[in-house]
Amino acid sequence: MDTINFAEKFYEKYGNRSDKPVLFFSPGRVNLIGEHTDYNGGFVFPCALNYGTYLLIRKIKTNTLKFSTINFNEDSEVKLNGLFINTSRKWINYPLGVINEFIKKGIKLSGLEFLYYGDVPNGAGLSSSASIEMVTAVALNEFFNAAFTTLDLVKMSQKAENEFVGMNCGIMDQFAVGFGKKDHAIFLNCDTLFFENVPIILTDCSLIITNTNKRRGLTDSKYNERRSECDKAVELLQKYKPVRNLSELTAGEINILEKYIHDPVIRKRAKHVISENGRVVEAVKVLKDNNIIRFGELMNQSHDSLKDDYEVTGMELDTLVYEGRKLPGVIGTRMTGAGFGGCTISIVRNDDSEKFMTTLSKVYQKKTGMVPDFYQPEIGNGAGRIEL
Ligand code: GLA
Repeated sequence: MDTINFAEKFYEKYGNRSDKPVLFFSPGRVNLIGEHTDYNGGFVFPCALNYGTYLLIRKIKTNTLKFSTINFNEDSEVKLNGLFINTSRKWINYPLGVINEFIKKGIKLSGLEFLYYGDVPNGAGLSSSASIEMVTAVALNEFFNAAFTTLDLVKMSQKAENEFVGMNCGIMDQFAVGFGKKDHAIFLNCDTLFFENVPIILTDCSLIITNTNKRRGLTDSKYNERRSECDKAVELLQKYKPVRNLSELTAGEINILEKYIHDPVIRKRAKHVISENGRVVEAVKVLKDNNIIRFGELMNQSHDSLKDDYEVTGMELDTLVYEGRKLPGVIGTRMTGAGFGGCTISIVRNDDSEKFMTTLSKVYQKKTGMVPDFYQPEIGNGAGRIEL
């Protein structure tokens, strides 16, 4: 990121070079294991990326909020005059949703100029939306001395996404983006919000993200459908014991599902959530023991469960994963994020990573007619102010 050039763009857009804007950055995230468990009170293991959203922001005297982004040609101006309603201009909903949360909490805002730039691909399951929300939240928190904690900002951003944007996500993305720590992943219990930063030491291996480049399309509606299927499973399990969420069951209880959940689809959904929680706990343990091979096996099992039991993968993700597994040096590979499209995350030996990318790219193009993108991310810190 060339911050000088970014600041130049800010001055070209808004003028007044004598008043310097302030720079904030918020990462995207990739989830290593623990998928579709967050809204079921379960475990996740995501990490923040060195890709994300940059925001230059400056106070102005008028009572106006001015939004602009380097990514698309879509500027907007709104008057600060009570709560906002969802606009048809999609990307502005993310900052506006967060701004609403500040207003609702009684923070008195004044006019601002915003310039965003994101280098995490949109709609690819790497949390570009949580990244825009959190960068806005940390900036407003500092500009208006609101003194919210990181956890407050995470919850406000999730609320913006749920209530303003209308995507009923769990807490994983905003949490990872807010609490990320360089070279660590976050082992988070989404029920208690207790978490631990676990060092990611992959020795002679690295993370590779592969983007299917399939647009998300129906993801949101399918996501909500999965959420209600899990609610249904919890309701049926009340006859077994009074559980609040699926994560209160352990792997040893998977065999009782047949007795209480007769619908095979609902039963499979519950099985995924329960088995996935077990995999996350084991994955964190083996990682601490430096057993990357077992970690990779658990990643593979996670994908299989997301394909067969949770049914959120699809041809593109499956092609990347199952073709990827045939290649030398692949320790583990799975879909990451909500699914249906978006990205896979793989652990690959460094010596084999070039070959992995070139071969997988060819096979994927041949099978799907689409060209994948590859990213070799570093694990970065959570959202905050950075030097301009
Ligand atoms: C999306 C949601 C998260 C989580 C994942 C699936 O990324 O935003 O809250 O549910 O899907 O693990």
